[in-house]
Amino acid sequence: MREGKEEVLLSSEGISRRGLFRNAGKLAIGATAAAAMTAGGLSFLSGAEAKGGRTEKWPWPYVKLDPETTAEIAYNDWYRLFCGAAVVNSVFSQLREKVGEPYNSFPVDAFVFLEGGISGWGTVCGSNAGANIVSNCIIGPRIAESADGMLMGSEMMQWYSEARMPVYMPKNPKVKTEIPKTVSNSPLCHISVGRWMKAANKDLMSPERKDRCARVTASVAYHLVELLNQWKDNTYATKGTIPSKTCGITGQHNCTDCHGSNVPAPPLPKKMTSEK
Ligand code: HEC
Repeated sequence: MREGKEEVLLSSEGISRRGLFRNAGKLAIGATAAAAMTAGGLSFLSGAEAKGGRTEKWPWPYVKLDPETTAEIAYNDWYRLFCGAAVVNSVFSQLREKVGEPYNSFPVDAFVFLEGGISGWGTVCGSNAGANIVSNCIIGPRIAESADGMLMGSEMMQWYSEARMPVYMPKNPKVKTEIPKTVSNSPLCHISVGRWMKAANKDLMSPERKDRCARVTASVAYHLVELLNQWKDNTYATKGTIPSKTCGITGQHNCTDCHGSNVPAPPLPKKMTSEK
């Protein structure tokens, strides 16, 4: 677990006063570590390790994967594990074979709870959560702009929100009829599924809705591996941003999607108001 979540959410430069001392060492090695990482996957001490806690080393070993193979695994795995765990397994099952640890020890199936936007509550679409788990396991927490699993995760959420889903067409789809495509404008399961159900006029338990979600899962797995491959090639320039850093509240960027034209202004931390 990453410490100091509020720092990530609220400080505009990613380091609060509370986190400054703890992060000082990390930052000092940050520049060299980032350079070494881009040169070829060197592991280094994390904050937890420096404090004598559980050892976490980033990045995790990654070899480039075929996006289509990954998408096919994700599609089929949806019918076993649903969206979130299927995305995780589409990447990690291949890395188990090609790399071994730490992927062998990772409890992929436990992430079945991401189904239906976490235990059916329609919050973040599990495939987005799965993509964030994968990017943060492999790349790790922020070391540099070029090495930040969260920014890649954020880029995936933005991409998901804007894509005409499902993007990926499986080789042997279980549902043979045409599946409508919709833009969710949101990374949330409830909104994404709801907008699709309205367009398709299909209920939640219909084979079409299930296959749509399986294909969405495959689409996310495909794009995630495209980004990870770029990262591995040192050609990845993130489009990810952290909305709360500019909006003053956690949330997707398109506030009007829910609030209409009357978007409430949140109370801003002193730091943000003085910066404006
Ligand atoms: C997914 C839908 C959704 C999105 C997107 C969204 N909000 Fe909200 N927001 C809500 C709901 C629902 C409430 C609760 C409103 C209430 O209780 O009256 C809320 C509450 C708030 C509140 C505090 C309560 C209030 O009404 O003053 C603020 C401030 C706020 N939103 C700002 C934003 C901003 C800024 C954005 C864009 C960065 C945003 N919201 C995006 C749904 C959303």
